[in-house]
Amino acid sequence: MDTQKIISLFPKMACISDEKLRELSIKAMSDAMEAGGWNEENVCLAPATVSYEGVGFGLIEHINLVTDMCMDAYERLSGYYEANGSPLDRDTVLCGALLHDIGKFTEYTVKDGAAVHGENADIMRHPLAGAVLAAKAGLPDSIIHLIATHSFEGDRSYLSQEAKFVRTLDLFAFNCSVAGLAKK
Ligand SMILES: [Fe+2]
Repeated sequence: MDTQKIISLFPKMACISDEKLRELSIKAMSDAMEAGGWNEENVCLAPATVSYEGVGFGLIEHINLVTDMCMDAYERLSGYYEANGSPLDRDTVLCGALLHDIGKFTEYTVKDGAAVHGENADIMRHPLAGAVLAAKAGLPDSIIHLIATHSFEGDRSYLSQEAKFVRTLDLFAFNCSVAGLAKK
């Protein structure tokens, strides 16, 4: 998928300050979609989860929600990190929010019109799949770490402060999005 299409799907991709990081992030997103068989026609069907009955929110919507929440929170909270002598890296938070779930493009697929787990979903859950995709795209370790640890895989891991920031808002956004839905 070309750069302009990726930016139209994920507008905050254009806000990554570092040019190289922006380029590599767009590449990782495009590579993830391609690896999962998603294209301009079907990518709007990519699911954020297949674990709930009647869940109706997509992966693009979820990624943009988490990214917007992370950037809003960054504006309000980064001053505390600064004041405490440990500045939060804006590009790492932004890039991490945009890419944290790229592994879902390979973890999930659509079969007979329904969103289901893909073939390799058991051994390549999205934090692992996403970290591999990010590494292959040439992204730095700070982003690979954030992707690899953002879900329960990171429960007993060291977490950078940017990883903690994104995973907290991701979990909050996800839980709000499925509030009241029954688990399959
Ligand atoms: Fe997420």
